[in-house]
Amino acid sequence: MDIKYIIDSILVPHSAFDHAIDKLEQCYAYAPGASEPVCIALIGESRTGKSRVIEEFCHRHPPTRLEQGLSIPILRVKTPSYPTVKGLVELLLGAIGDPRFTTGTENAKTMRLKHLMQKVGTYMVVLDEFQHFFDKGSQMVMHQVADWLKILADETRCALVVAGLPTCRAVIDQNEQLAGRFAAPVIMPRLNWTVEVERQEFLAILQAFDEVIAGVLDCPALAAEEMAFRCFCTCGGLIGILSKFLRQLVWNASTADRKALTLKDLQEAHTQSIWSIQRDTPATGQSTPVMPNPFAQDFLKQYKRDELLLWAQSVGRPAPRPPKATKRAGKRSARGGYNDAFGA
Ligand SMILES: Nc1ncnc2c1ncn2[C@@H]1O[C@H](COP(=O)(O)OP(=O)(O)OP(=O)(O)O)[C@@H](O)[C@H]1O
Ligand SMILES: [Mg+2]
Repeated sequence: MDIKYIIDSILVPHSAFDHAIDKLEQCYAYAPGASEPVCIALIGESRTGKSRVIEEFCHRHPPTRLEQGLSIPILRVKTPSYPTVKGLVELLLGAIGDPRFTTGTENAKTMRLKHLMQKVGTYMVVLDEFQHFFDKGSQMVMHQVADWLKILADETRCALVVAGLPTCRAVIDQNEQLAGRFAAPVIMPRLNWTVEVERQEFLAILQAFDEVIAGVLDCPALAAEEMAFRCFCTCGGLIGILSKFLRQLVWNASTADRKALTLKDLQEAHTQSIWSIQRDTPATGQSTPVMPNPFAQDFLKQYKRDELLLWAQSVGRPAPRPPKATKRAGKRSARGGYNDAFGA
């Protein structure tokens, strides 16, 4: 395989991943005979691997062509950014292969979807990006489309799997009928360095990436104590940020046609791949990243571990909004977060 794609080809079956797949498999196995729809929510921060779980699960149950016709056991779509019944039903019709997915009234489309689901034997509907059912601006749940989904699940007796950011909890919390149908959520976690089992999990994930990279490149051992901590500070325990950084590292090696990598290469890959909030330095007129580069030579000597861990918690999270200036507080930043830890 071309080394450019090795990071994307790796699937690390870490504990949360395995647990989520097991829950979905159980749901899939019991859905056909269930007297009411089985509903599961896969919830986690961005880049915790929710979509990858869904992708792998759907890959295990692909559409097949049988003697009696096409079988599509799972219908998977990404929730549009402002979901409506019309938008969602059209997406589902498109996913099931209806060439006339935009034709007809909302009711006609819904009837057609139910008919097609029965015809191709669909017994699970998977909606990724479910947080779009909650409008952050108005803090409102899209109740109409949520109700439509509940009725679809009830009438077709299909299992319903939704995946999304923690804000999607509001959709279920605020709809008693959905809440009554959903089992406890399956959580995809951000790993915490200070919790022993989670640190071990992180080291095992690093080891899995390391083994594949070592097959093609001579790279410093990522799971070794000091390096593992630097990697943790890079991704804050989010597997998606770790894989993005490693992908950049491998791409750079591939572009430069080099087989041996040093700390400097890791430092460069970090600078290129990780989105970093910038801090303006008025004296020089320049802006520099708030976060120090974890692969800089003096990184571990320069900062206290607690400071670094505080900063790592903010990786992949939105920056705190600057507070509105008041006469008393002036324009200084809000308390907490990495700005305090690093004196920004
Ligand atoms: N178990 C895993 N093994 C290897 N790579 C993984 C694994 N889980 C996630 N990744 C990689 O991490 C990246 C982010 O994962 P994914 O898209 O599933 O996150 P997400 O939780 O859906 O994020 P978002 O909420 O932003 O959509 C992807 O490139 C994915 O391939
Ligand atoms: Mg996703």
